[in-house]
Amino acid sequence: MGREVAVSVRELVKEYDGTLALRGVSFDIYKGEVFGLLGPNGAGKTTLMNILAGILLPTSGKAEVLGHDVVRESRAVRALVGFCPQETVAYEELNAMENMMFYAGLYGLPRSEAKRRSKELLEFVRLLDVAKKPVREFSGGMKRRLNLAIALINDPEVLLLDEPTTGLDPRARRDAWHYIEGLKAEGRTILLATHYMEEADRLSDRVAIMDLGRVIALDTPEALKKSVGELSVIEVHVEEASEALKEALSALSENGKILSGEDYVRLYTRDPEAVLPKAVEATLRAGAKVISVSVSEPTLEDVFLKLTGRRLE
Ligand SMILES: Nc1ncnc2c1ncn2[C@@H]1O[C@H](COP(=O)(O)OP(=O)(O)OP(=O)(O)O)[C@@H](O)[C@H]1O
Ligand SMILES: [Mg+2]
Repeated sequence: MGREVAVSVRELVKEYDGTLALRGVSFDIYKGEVFGLLGPNGAGKTTLMNILAGILLPTSGKAEVLGHDVVRESRAVRALVGFCPQETVAYEELNAMENMMFYAGLYGLPRSEAKRRSKELLEFVRLLDVAKKPVREFSGGMKRRLNLAIALINDPEVLLLDEPTTGLDPRARRDAWHYIEGLKAEGRTILLATHYMEEADRLSDRVAIMDLGRVIALDTPEALKKSVGELSVIEVHVEEASEALKEALSALSENGKILSGEDYVRLYTRDPEAVLPKAVEATLRAGAKVISVSVSEPTLEDVFLKLTGRRLE
């Protein structure tokens, strides 16, 4: 509907000697949107990002960033995108400012401009007061923030963020979400790869759920969650979810599918009123210490489970 496309991906295939990491991936990302790539380990998220960053060749298919072909015009693409890879790219022996200046140099920014932008970005990620500290003394969260500042040095219209919050504690993760929301508010187009369903849900305008090199669903988070259908989710919180408990609750769940963690089990039903008391009963019978039992809204993880029969992890 007349929305401008920032990134287009058509039938992308990537084969690494024998492994098909991408098996024909297609989608468009509109200008100004946050587009989430949600998928478990090995789904192909990083492979796709590297191709869009112009640093990895696809086996076949085509991708364009702001109208530039990522293979034929990879230099132009590299100049236009900001890429925040999964691993930190800062040099440990340099301080934060020196790192910024180094990367600014790679983009050919004049020195005064480089200085101004470096300061501005270090301030944005709250590292200006430690700008002179060697990066090796930084915490994991500080390195992540520096990684983001480095990705922004060329003032990119399109930002590729590969798992920007993996390994961060909840507070640092919320900080990162705040930065990403700020960058969206500035009108940037953001591709966000993550395996945290909460992160994809909260930040993305649309989410592509990936699994084993394919996009298996693509829509707004709301529409994806609605697709879980008429099923309600009952969440049983316990002190410890034993195998016996999982088995008992699985017997009450639609198709026997459940989602569970150390201290919870989620089960699915068309008739929550009838199943809720049964779930409580089964939980007590399994000898589990109940913390709470509630009917909850479907999450993107429930969507993934419905589509693949597996959990996201
Ligand atoms: N350089 C490589 N050589 C061979 N196989 C690779 C290479 N890089 C990735 N793969 C394989 O390609 C598939 C997709 O990997 P990729 O790193 O793109 O997934 P991902 O979704 O980013 O996973 P993660 O969540 O672990 O970062 C995996 O099966 C992986 O083992
Ligand atoms: Mg990855």
